[in-house]
Amino acid sequence: MSFTLAHLSDPHLGPMPPARIAELLGKRAIGYANWKRRRHAIHRRDVLAQILADIHAQRPDHIAVTGDLVNVALPAEFTQARTWLEGVGSPQDVSLVPGNHDAYSRAAGGQFALSWADYMRGDGETAVRFPYLRRRGPFALIGLTTAVPSAPFMATGRIGHTQLAGLDEMLARVQSEQLCRVVLIHHPLRSARGRWSARLTDAAALVDVLKRHGVDLVLHGHDHRHATVWFEGPRGRFASIGVPSASASVGGHHQPAAYQLISVEREGDGGWSITRRVRGFGGNAEGILELKREILTGAPATDGKKDSPVLPQAQLDQMIISTAKDWKKTAFIIGKILHECEDRHVSITSEEIFSRILSLREGGSLESQGDLSNWRDSEVRLKT
Ligand SMILES: [Fe+2]
Ligand SMILES: [Fe+2]
Repeated sequence: MSFTLAHLSDPHLGPMPPARIAELLGKRAIGYANWKRRRHAIHRRDVLAQILADIHAQRPDHIAVTGDLVNVALPAEFTQARTWLEGVGSPQDVSLVPGNHDAYSRAAGGQFALSWADYMRGDGETAVRFPYLRRRGPFALIGLTTAVPSAPFMATGRIGHTQLAGLDEMLARVQSEQLCRVVLIHHPLRSARGRWSARLTDAAALVDVLKRHGVDLVLHGHDHRHATVWFEGPRGRFASIGVPSASASVGGHHQPAAYQLISVEREGDGGWSITRRVRGFGGNAEGILELKREILTGAPATDGKKDSPVLPQAQLDQMIISTAKDWKKTAFIIGKILHECEDRHVSITSEEIFSRILSLREGGSLESQGDLSNWRDSEVRLKT
């Protein structure tokens, strides 16, 4: 019988509750103003409600939520988020890890571990301790926290030595249980270029532990975009997969709300065949669709058995130029290159491609029509 795990991330629940002046010091003041000015229009409760209704309609056996439930970690936001979590499912059926917004500033303290404790407690534990281990069906769900307060304009995360040592020991322990090992984490294992201030600062040490023991899948959020990066484990590759924010509206530069459904089947060689279905909003607000269906095990290792490569800049420039021989929509060029890179398991983001389009125009290689920041309505071509 198959067992399905749903994964959503970064709900960034609104509306922002009223705050007392004393609560809006330092980083929180900046974040609060940012929410009122811009972010409230991106992260919408009606979008999130549609995503959640679609998840429930799919009747998953378990739901994983990878952080950033709140925005500036005001006390009232945690209460609001607790109510939302209870609507997602019971603590037995929902596993949560916190994000950087859940530990936004020092003033937030460790409120997430108090308000949402029963969603983050490992099997048989009486307290919240990371990493946690929850066995659900064929899955060993391993929850990590990367949620640490950071300076204004920073969104970094950190695992820390104690948690890494705990993970090392935990992975050695579950090795013999023949479970599908899924790591839940807020920050990606590898950040895109330009996301230095939002990276996981000790990602290299974490990747080292994961590669040494091997896991079957890593699920993350934080970047608010679809992302798949492959890593080489001791007995084959494993994917680290990110999803957009589950409340992201359609339109603008951000990717619209989506989530994924993971089902696994035991393979003859002792490995797992992982079927991944991505559901969410397409480019228009026509409702929630199946955006992608793929089997992760057995993905072609086009580069031997190495970690996903990063695309060299010269190669990216060449791809842009060869796509823009005549007038093409900026969105078309970005989408085409994203697909090509995904097929080749190369890690890239739409923002990186856009940034190179801008540089090539400024350098005189490309010309453009319309406001380039509007990807759908602007056009680009090779300068003649
Ligand atoms: Fe987020
Ligand atoms: Fe985040």
